[in-house]
Amino acid sequence: MIEKKISVAVIKRLPRYYRYLGDLLENDVVRISSKELSKKMDVTASQIRQDLNNFGGFGQQGYGYNVEYLYHEIGKILGLERKHKLIIVGAGNLGQALANYTDFEKRGFIIEGIFDVNPRLVGMTVRGIEIKDIGEMEKLVLNGDIDIAVLTIPKQKAVKIGNDLINWGIRGIWNFAPIDLKLKLSSDVVIENVHLSDSLMTLSYNISCKE
Ligand code: NAI
Repeated sequence: MIEKKISVAVIKRLPRYYRYLGDLLENDVVRISSKELSKKMDVTASQIRQDLNNFGGFGQQGYGYNVEYLYHEIGKILGLERKHKLIIVGAGNLGQALANYTDFEKRGFIIEGIFDVNPRLVGMTVRGIEIKDIGEMEKLVLNGDIDIAVLTIPKQKAVKIGNDLINWGIRGIWNFAPIDLKLKLSSDVVIENVHLSDSLMTLSYNISCKE
């Protein structure tokens, strides 16, 4: 466990390093210098060195980085060395799209359940996983050692469901409902709000700047 306080900006860059290193591994690249990596990723070599120095460096003067080693070390920092069990709450368009995305499993995020209130959806399967009635969720979360809940429900429902999940012992909430969830401040639960429209509006801004 890392004791040192790492800045949010550095943490946010780590998944991108991990993704690039994964691609390099797939292409059988054994080692890479910070300069080569910086060219690929379009960040400066000193930024890469500074970021990785937060965790002890990992590189060797004159050699660069061993790709496989660095990939696994960053994976460990990101908590990917162990599997995470997750549930999807809301089996509509987005919930089903996320359930259909197999790459999460490759990263160790295992879908243990999908829940909805709509009786027309309950009993259907998504990639072999049965959609269950929301009433069955409490038991699974209480008994099933579930780490993460993915919220793909209307925003009016997100606060109540989020608080229920916290009471039942969930560790993290990946919230897609269009509201910044700020649940019980005293809890240790980690919330990551995802808003694709924020990204789209940033794109719009950048287009506007070029006009
Ligand atoms: P949808 O209407 O297709 O699906 C929502 C599902 O939630 C429905 O199946 C509904 O029966 C279910 N639901 C409603 N109340 C529930 C409850 N209390 N417990 C369990 N299930 C419940 O909507 P869609 O398109 O899948 O979007 C889902 C949510 O994600 C919406 O809030 C939408 O605004 C949001 N969204 C967010 C994005 C983002 O970038 N953060 C992108 C797209 C959608």
